[in-house]
Amino acid sequence: APQSVIGQDSAQVLGQSYPRDDFTNVTPKILEKVGRNLHNQSHHPLWLIKERIKAHFYSSYIGRSGNPLFSVHDNLSPVVTTEQNFDSLLIPPGHPSRKRGDNYYLNRTTMLRAHTSAHQTDLVRSGLDAFLLAGDVYRRDEIDASHYPVFHQMEGVRLFSNRQLFSRVQNGGELSLFERGGRRSPEKQETHTLEAVKLVEFDLKRTLTQLVSYLFGADLEIRWVDCYFPFTHPSFEMEVRFQGDWMEVLGCGVMEQELLNSAGAGDKLGWAFGLGLERLAMVLYSIPDIRLFWSQDERFLKQFRVQDIHQPVCFQTLSKYPPLHNDISFWLPNGKESQAGRESFTENDFYELVRSIGGDLVEKVSLVDNFTHPKTGRRSHCYRIIYRHMERTLTQQEVRRVHQQIEQAAESELGVQGRF
Ligand code: PHE
Repeated sequence: APQSVIGQDSAQVLGQSYPRDDFTNVTPKILEKVGRNLHNQSHHPLWLIKERIKAHFYSSYIGRSGNPLFSVHDNLSPVVTTEQNFDSLLIPPGHPSRKRGDNYYLNRTTMLRAHTSAHQTDLVRSGLDAFLLAGDVYRRDEIDASHYPVFHQMEGVRLFSNRQLFSRVQNGGELSLFERGGRRSPEKQETHTLEAVKLVEFDLKRTLTQLVSYLFGADLEIRWVDCYFPFTHPSFEMEVRFQGDWMEVLGCGVMEQELLNSAGAGDKLGWAFGLGLERLAMVLYSIPDIRLFWSQDERFLKQFRVQDIHQPVCFQTLSKYPPLHNDISFWLPNGKESQAGRESFTENDFYELVRSIGGDLVEKVSLVDNFTHPKTGRRSHCYRIIYRHMERTLTQQEVRRVHQQIEQAAESELGVQGRF
């Protein structure tokens, strides 16, 4: 893939040029990852999970002429318009998920996709009724062992015509997908009949339950939690029991009819899901840290080079090298000093800065103290940064060098005042 870089006036991403504006916030560190396509790298653990999911869908869902029902798409560019990422999914202007602080924008109208759902409408509009879609997604977020600004999702969509949905029901010919004058309730959308929605919801949950039992074995404990997405209703999250705790692995639901209408499939009902490939891989192989997926270390990668994708992988955790930690405290810029119209200091700005300087040496950043001076009202934050290399022991000296660079950059770029 061509190198992606950010220049004075424009960002070059995958061979295309995007003019910068006041929304541009991609960093060189993030652009380094664009085009890596871990999910398409043979024998990478994310590739392995993707292949296993494909194999499951290919063998379980077969069309009338013996063809696979679901087509698979894993090569769509992560550069999308804000229209694709938000508007096409009925996410309104001003919705919190559009915040500059949470996303990587190339400019006001173009971004690195924050989820694979960004392609739902386009693929439906192209005439597909059942598809899987894998890709890298980008989000500004907190920093710890299970969060990384680039991760991978697998999206699934299935649409049903009246005949397809009701053919298995006795006297199904008398049932309808749609009703007029209905009301939206916690169970269904206004235009849907309850019987249609319940069948779609049942098919969705059965499909996903079978998928995770195929991946993890039948004893896995799962539960469904009601939730909200602007593009599905009703919406659910699936949680799996992992090391004594419930862990969210996917979001899903019955697609909003307005989305299908605008994608030219208004005569059908559909379900959609989006699952996190790293999350699944971490549970399946007991991978302790999300940074390991980017490792080029043979001791990590060779463990996934199985002959046959169905062969079990017994992952031996690489022993973790010792961590070093360093704290950093500073006064936040006070409201008046911040530029008009811009959010002033946000925690994600600081996480981003730590990430761009410390790279993968940073394992975790946590806010350990949030203090307001009783007289002046000034606020101060103290963060603890945990440094750890995945492949060797770090020295105090090299950590100190990185930490000092972070201190300097925080003052010069975020307008904070160091208490170093
Ligand atoms: N796109 C959602 C997310 O990233 C997941 C999702 C996909 C939810 C499809 C519903 C339907 O959180």
